[in-house]
Amino acid sequence: MDTQTQMKQVVADAAIKEVKNDMILGLGSGSTAALMIKRLANEIHSGKLKNIKGVATSFQSEVLALELDIQLIDLASVSEIDLAIDGADEVDPEFQLIKGGGACHVREKLVASKANQLLILVDETKLVQNLNQSFPLPVEVLPNAWKHVQDMISEMNGSSNLRMATKKAGPVVTDQGNLILDVLFNDGIHNPKDIEMCINNIPGVLENGLFVDLTDKVLVGKIENDIPVVYSPSKAG
Ligand code: 5RP
Repeated sequence: MDTQTQMKQVVADAAIKEVKNDMILGLGSGSTAALMIKRLANEIHSGKLKNIKGVATSFQSEVLALELDIQLIDLASVSEIDLAIDGADEVDPEFQLIKGGGACHVREKLVASKANQLLILVDETKLVQNLNQSFPLPVEVLPNAWKHVQDMISEMNGSSNLRMATKKAGPVVTDQGNLILDVLFNDGIHNPKDIEMCINNIPGVLENGLFVDLTDKVLVGKIENDIPVVYSPSKAG
């Protein structure tokens, strides 16, 4: 196992300690969340965790939960979610996030905002001082609006690329049938709350990957003396 996967595995294992019997859990997307979902299935099937129901944040997490026989319920049929557990692409010292590296941020944000608590699992390469210095902000757009949104974002000093698929000609198509613009601002993002709102106000935008004031706790995996360990940083500010 490479060192990044070791860091992801150790946070996925630690996350399970936050899960209690009878919880409704938001099941995140991406490789770290997938490790957590696999670990969760082990705990359920060994009888250590009982009466757990999952709410999927993507086609990926839905398929994985089905394969692992984790009971799923639809987002529309729950009034609240006890705990959402998800990965992230960037985490700043105030626990503001960029998500959407897997193009799942629309449902991820819906689930996170319906959850009483959001637990974020990352390896230490995801910790940054300022968002969007190197990782582009994913913006989901209606297919026929992408050019218009791209022009509007360039007026905000953002440069963007339509995310292209691999193993398919043309763009990535999201679980909702939309497209993704990956956006880099000239000097990164220093005011995530304003940028989140401004981008979402552009006609044709479904949602962007800024998760502002949603995260309660972050678990970080790192390698110390060749051993993967977990810590939970305090939120700045
Ligand atoms: C998907 C996400 C993922 O949580 C994020 O991209 C992190 O993925 P990984 O755990 O594979 O690094 O936001 O839309």
